[in-house]
Amino acid sequence: MTKIMLGLLLTVAITPAMANSLAVDAMLQSYRQLGVVSFDAQAGQQLWQEDFDGRSCGSCHGQDLTQTGKHVKTKKILKPMALSVNVDRFSKQKKMKKWFKRNCKWTLGRECTPQEKGDILTWLIEQ
Ligand code: HEC
Repeated sequence: MTKIMLGLLLTVAITPAMANSLAVDAMLQSYRQLGVVSFDAQAGQQLWQEDFDGRSCGSCHGQDLTQTGKHVKTKKILKPMALSVNVDRFSKQKKMKKWFKRNCKWTLGRECTPQEKGDILTWLIEQ
């Protein structure tokens, strides 16, 4: 009986949505530890939409985050970035770190700062 109850509790407790907020919170916390005081979703949106010599985050992820994107080089279809339509997003720190690194380098020609990553994430998880 207790085992069943515990099993039930665990299934109810860890929903995909919670995995996202846990992972994103941990990311934001790590940026705070690097000195970032607060995060600004609007600044994140601006950066996401900014054009860097013809490149932007939307080059692969598309303009509408609730729609699929298309990788500008490989033409591979990318699942929507918006959590509202894709609950699998932003659930693994390792994945976020890897792609922030690659994608900032490709788009901005440099890595994003902790402030920039935090701003972008804060905006992204609201979508
Ligand atoms: C050259 C293509 C390309 C561009 C440009 C690009 N991305 Fe990505 N991004 C990818 C691919 C490929 C993945 C991994 C597959 C997936 O998650 O759909 C990914 C995944 C991500 C993830 C991980 C999401 C998750 O579910 O954990 C984040 C965060 C991300 N990108 C942020 C950015 C940001 C910020 C920019 C702009 C600075 C950007 N991307 C621009 C191709 C791109």
